[in-house]
Amino acid sequence: MRAPENLILVIFGASGDLTERKLMPAVYDLHKQKLLPGRFAVVGVGRTEYSDGAFREKMMQGIEKNLDESKNDEMLRLFCQNLFYVSLDTRSADDYKKLKDRLTALDAELQTGGNFIFYMATPPELYPIIPHNLAAHELNKQKSGWRKLIIEKPFGYDLASARSLNQKLLRFFKEDQIYRIDHYLGKETVQNILVTRFSNNIFEPLWNQHFIHHVEITSVESLGVENRGGYYDRSGVLRDMFQNHLLKLVSLVAMEPPIAFDAKSIRNETQKALESLRPIKEHEVPDYVIRGQYTESVVRGEKVRGYRQEKGVDPESKTETFLAFKFYIDNWRWGGVPFYVRAGKRMPTTVTEIVIYFKPTPHHMFSGNQSIASSSNQLVIRIQPDEGILLKFGMKVPGAGFKVQDVAMDFHYSDLANVHLPSAYERLLLDSMLGDQTLYESGETVEAAWKFVQPVLNVWQSNPNIKIYGYPAGSWGPPQADDLIEEPHLTWRYPCKNLAMDGVYCEL
Ligand code: BG6
Repeated sequence: MRAPENLILVIFGASGDLTERKLMPAVYDLHKQKLLPGRFAVVGVGRTEYSDGAFREKMMQGIEKNLDESKNDEMLRLFCQNLFYVSLDTRSADDYKKLKDRLTALDAELQTGGNFIFYMATPPELYPIIPHNLAAHELNKQKSGWRKLIIEKPFGYDLASARSLNQKLLRFFKEDQIYRIDHYLGKETVQNILVTRFSNNIFEPLWNQHFIHHVEITSVESLGVENRGGYYDRSGVLRDMFQNHLLKLVSLVAMEPPIAFDAKSIRNETQKALESLRPIKEHEVPDYVIRGQYTESVVRGEKVRGYRQEKGVDPESKTETFLAFKFYIDNWRWGGVPFYVRAGKRMPTTVTEIVIYFKPTPHHMFSGNQSIASSSNQLVIRIQPDEGILLKFGMKVPGAGFKVQDVAMDFHYSDLANVHLPSAYERLLLDSMLGDQTLYESGETVEAAWKFVQPVLNVWQSNPNIKIYGYPAGSWGPPQADDLIEEPHLTWRYPCKNLAMDGVYCEL
């Protein structure tokens, strides 16, 4: 594998949670696998004052906690010698001189070739400000070495703000310097959607409206909003999960085969898929989107707070913590096939999966239950946990007659013993170092996704009377979500923590 060029990774928001929990453990994992360049350093940037030593100690603790490493490990100690910290007010352009001086000195000392990646792990209001201030000190200029910018989600708050952010970034950085993260694309199992579809000739011929009855995506979590009530109350699940992670899954399921496996070809196809989503008119929103909010309840013997009682949440909040969305993709491949997508917090379990429901056979010759729900072939693509794939099909029950029973063929990633499943951040950080934007979002795809959800945001804002259903924490959300499904005898699949066929041993 090609090694990245020597570089310095500059993390804005370095004293924050994301850096300690996800980014630094991911960088250390890359170090352990010898995937980092020979000359490499991390410079943390934040408002909080830390000495290099105190920052190293904090990062060491984060790595220890999140990767089960021992602080006394020699490799970890040596790795942390390459971590540095600069304290500055990110809003003040003048302060960036300090950063520039430190980077210039470190670059000369470590011989990192003037290659810098700037990672914005800050609150989103700083996304337009940091690039502007970097540019004020010419830290965006690629005179010697290259410069890249990584931006965390949320990218924009709605279509207008996403457009404006794109324009602001493009004033100082070129599109090929901008890396917009959707960490779902860093997940092995999400990338595997492409491999499943485009490296096997058995699925692709069936992957269209002739053979697929409907597509269902569930992404639910048993946790509530935890300590992010303030952020979440301005966001809701539509902005937090659907506009980005879930529409990403939809675009990978729905896209046409790319002509090559590179950033340009893949982005072209996912972009086209998003642009084919049938726009929802504002008056249709209640027929296509059901929203809910969790209420107080007892889950496994423990009292669980309702959303409105969470810290940082408005006691009269109408922010949705659950959503079920029905929509169509108006193109040759998907004409008439409903897509059902559901996401929420405080559900019975934590699981993300895609279910492709194939159409039943045109003629039922055998006895047994022949409804679509129970007898159609289903392909379950399990994103997490118990990552894998399950294919459900009918088999003859041994004995007299021709009775059909559903059986499952399944593959679990865990069966690939000794294979390291890289974390999403590990993969994405390495790709940015290598200059590969394939698993990053383009400005256009982000805008296309916002364009699709904008009518829903508009209606919920302008018409507060649109119902938001309460559901007890620990339940599967409001029963009204079932009404979205067109056929009366069909329901959602209620998945378990373990990848299993419906009705088999289930772990919640
Ligand atoms: C984040 C959301 O983007 O994704 C969180 O802000 C959510 O609310 C998280 O919990 C889910 O990510 P994962 O990788 O745990 O499925």
